[in-house]
Amino acid sequence: MNPVFADLPVSVFEVMSQLARENAAINLGQGFPDDAGPEDVRRKAAEAVVDGWNQYPSMLGIPELRQAISAHYRHWQGFELDPEREIMVTSGATEALAGALLAVIEPGDEVVLFQPLYDAYLPLVKRAGGIPRFVRLEPPHWRFDEEMLAAAFTRKTKVVLFNNPLNPSGTVYGRAELELLARMCERFNAIAVCDEVWEHVMFDGRRHVPLIALPGMRERCVKIGSAGKIFSLTGWKVGFVCAAPPILRVLAKAHQFITFTTPPNLQAAVAYGLSKSDDYFEDMRRGLQRSRDRFAQGLKRLGFPVLDAQGTYFLNVDLGPLGRNEDDETFCKRLVVEHKVAAIPVSAFYAADPIRSVVRFCFAKRDQTLDAALDRLAGALRHTA
Ligand SMILES: Cc1ncc(COP(=O)(O)O)c(C=O)c1O
Repeated sequence: MNPVFADLPVSVFEVMSQLARENAAINLGQGFPDDAGPEDVRRKAAEAVVDGWNQYPSMLGIPELRQAISAHYRHWQGFELDPEREIMVTSGATEALAGALLAVIEPGDEVVLFQPLYDAYLPLVKRAGGIPRFVRLEPPHWRFDEEMLAAAFTRKTKVVLFNNPLNPSGTVYGRAELELLARMCERFNAIAVCDEVWEHVMFDGRRHVPLIALPGMRERCVKIGSAGKIFSLTGWKVGFVCAAPPILRVLAKAHQFITFTTPPNLQAAVAYGLSKSDDYFEDMRRGLQRSRDRFAQGLKRLGFPVLDAQGTYFLNVDLGPLGRNEDDETFCKRLVVEHKVAAIPVSAFYAADPIRSVVRFCFAKRDQTLDAALDRLAGALRHTA
């Protein structure tokens, strides 16, 4: 068996979900909303199943969806993509990531990764033969600077894998940091694989800046998005990847032998959804921002040191300043057993040298779910372990 997968421990996500079930806990661990998602988009999918095309669609994705993605990014992010040559639909961002990493990395190439990192990244990089080089981000701001990048990039760097907005910290990186990263990519001739699945989920009037739109980056960027996050339909697994034609051609060859296509009916519904009026996207953000604020205020009232959440479905608390003798994992296990609320210890997002004081909660839930969780969390900090 290949040790990259055979030696992977049971993930903390599975452990916490199992504990949540056993303890009948409110699960704020996994990142999915507890409402059904936009009804018109779901109806479009149903209609497309009954009346539409159910055989293999085009390998790059149905033309309506590729055109809708191009129009959507022109409108929201101000850059042009050729729907015929620069866009491909995948089965979720996960497939897009796997395909991009398999297509770009050659054994021995170095790959710069930012910790905390999404759990799929490291096994995929290693399976492709890549050698990880980490940039370690820290609370409360999770920012990086030139010195941190310079310590990770080398002559062997082939790829930098960059997640913006960042799960789990909820950080949104702006133009200054992106320009720094772009300069490093140019200096080291590296390709940036940009996981931008949270591009629409950002708050307080922030707007997403895609790295691919920065000067000089068009030819060295792979931009990855996910309809699951844009429409709060995380089970749909419809993703998209955008890159200049010489890169996309190779990515398409990897995609050809991973999934080849993605259900055409879901693609049709996503094409419809991407063309919705601005109100839908603004309302989605406003609703999530309201949930974030409700949960953050509740946590603060209970004495939790809450970190800034600029985007994503996640809010973090840093137990470090409380000077407690209990790490994040012990705290989460006690929380789920004694208080019946599941959360995720952020140390699980580090491959080396973890931060052990931060705990991630998913706030993309109904008010009554959040309020019930807050009721149960009362007293959770009184324990002096
Ligand atoms: C950073 C990041 N990348 C990728 C994914 C997976 O996206 P998809 O469900 O479209 O495969 C997620 C899901 O939570 C994520 O947070």
